[in-house]
Amino acid sequence: MFSHLLVVTWAVGLGLASSIEKRQSQTATVNLSHMQGAPQHFASGFLYGIPDTPNQIPSHFYTEIAFNYGRAGGAQLPAKGYMNGLEEYKPRFASMLSNYHTCREFGAEFIVLLHDLWGADGSESQSDLFPGDNDDWSTWDNFLNQVVSDMRANNMTAAVKIDIWNEADGGGFWLRDRSQFMAMYARTHNTLRNIFPEAQIFGPTFTGQPDPNNVWWTDWLSMIASNNVVPDVYCWHLIRQPGGSSGDDITFSRGVFEQVLQQFGLPSRPINIDEYGSPEEQVPASSAWFMARFERNNIHSLRSVWTGGPSLHDFMTDLLGKTGDGAYFPAGEWQVYRYYGTNMTGNRVETSPSADGFFDVYATASDRVRILGSAHTQTGSYTVNVDGMADFGFDTHGTVNVQTREFPYAGLRGEVDGPIDHGVSQISFDNNQLVIPATISVNTSAYAWEVFRIE
Ligand SMILES: *[C@@H]1O[C@H](CO)[C@@H](O)[C@H](O)[C@H]1NC(C)=O
Ligand SMILES: *[C@@H]1O[C@H](CO)[C@@H](O)[C@H](O)[C@H]1NC(C)=O
Ligand SMILES: *[C@@H]1O[C@H](CO)[C@@H](O)[C@H](O)[C@H]1NC(C)=O
Ligand SMILES: *[C@@H]1O[C@H](CO)[C@@H](O)[C@H](O)[C@H]1NC(C)=O
Repeated sequence: MFSHLLVVTWAVGLGLASSIEKRQSQTATVNLSHMQGAPQHFASGFLYGIPDTPNQIPSHFYTEIAFNYGRAGGAQLPAKGYMNGLEEYKPRFASMLSNYHTCREFGAEFIVLLHDLWGADGSESQSDLFPGDNDDWSTWDNFLNQVVSDMRANNMTAAVKIDIWNEADGGGFWLRDRSQFMAMYARTHNTLRNIFPEAQIFGPTFTGQPDPNNVWWTDWLSMIASNNVVPDVYCWHLIRQPGGSSGDDITFSRGVFEQVLQQFGLPSRPINIDEYGSPEEQVPASSAWFMARFERNNIHSLRSVWTGGPSLHDFMTDLLGKTGDGAYFPAGEWQVYRYYGTNMTGNRVETSPSADGFFDVYATASDRVRILGSAHTQTGSYTVNVDGMADFGFDTHGTVNVQTREFPYAGLRGEVDGPIDHGVSQISFDNNQLVIPATISVNTSAYAWEVFRIE
């Protein structure tokens, strides 16, 4: 019913009808008549990726990407977590606390992952203890008290958000049935509200998108309505399936979510996507696409991580690489986040994506109009229409400079020291609209177009 694929197919079909319509289906727009305030860097979060020993990654790698959201719980350490006893939990708590301090150093918010502190980090098995097994909640209640008292003892009370459980619907982190999850969720919400009212509660943190035909979602929505355990922030993940073309679009997903909220009579609350991007989407092109969409929707989000073991606690979700001597260097995507976090200053500008959904842009206006975009994972000839030129002081017609930059990908943790400068061209415009031809020749690259006056 809510198939995104259907929408895409329809748009492509329409495009074939005539060459004019086809061109429009591949046009993104920037409207200089509609400024939207200072950049918020809604896509500048990531989970894990922070070394447990403080001060390993030089500060500028965090600050220049405007890092603002972290998320951790000591997953995949040799110590197995609370379900194996208090001693197995302590190193996980210490890891999380260290990551929290790093986040706070950069002013980032922090999401606590209870399932990892507990030990259900993907390495657990059916025979392990889960909250509420045999209707006995005592170990889980003790665990929650332990975590909260340890956080208090360490002054870990500011900017704390708690994910009640990660991806219970995904089959990897919750090895019990749905009804036991629902009971755990309601109980944990009420306990946390009692013993840790300072923390914001995030839920349900499902891997599947909101969907009126997904029983995890419908059971959860009806459970939070009937138990009055609505989270402070609604949270889910946007991970495209391998080889697929949907599952990652916040604009679509949010639309469905608003419908199901209405259906269940639930209030609107902020949304956070605390994992975005599949492994194939961790390339500059897809990062730029996600930035455009999260900025348009004003929704905070965190990059996924696709590594395990010690690498999980390093490399800023593969935004960085490291030499044999332990010196960090930037990978291709880091340069996109840096441009987004450092160079795209001033006012955010209203944008819209191409009708085929692939080409999308994020834009800011200051000394230059900077437009960052990509065709997600496609290549082809696209167009950026910049409307309202006169409202940014250009004029309704004339000639401007357009400088094109490319942000390449050099493989997983492959070093890229900056964007490629493709030079400045002069483009004439009239009717208050500049038309920039955008040739996307590399499916992993992001591009920037900078518009400025000819002096
Ligand atoms: C640009 O934004 C202005 C102000 O919101 C609006 O009036 C105008 O219709 C928009 N132009 C286009 C081409 O969408
Ligand atoms: C917590 O904060 C208090 C008051 O600022 C301080 O005295 C104490 O040393 C802090 N404790 C830790 C573990 O940081
Ligand atoms: C981005 O800003 C930094 C810091 O001002 C500067 O060194 C760098 O050259 C800029 N990059 C681009 C592509 O403009
Ligand atoms: C990008 O293009 C390469 C080479 O044509 C292809 O192997 C790869 O699957 C493409 N990537 C995506 C994400 O579509």
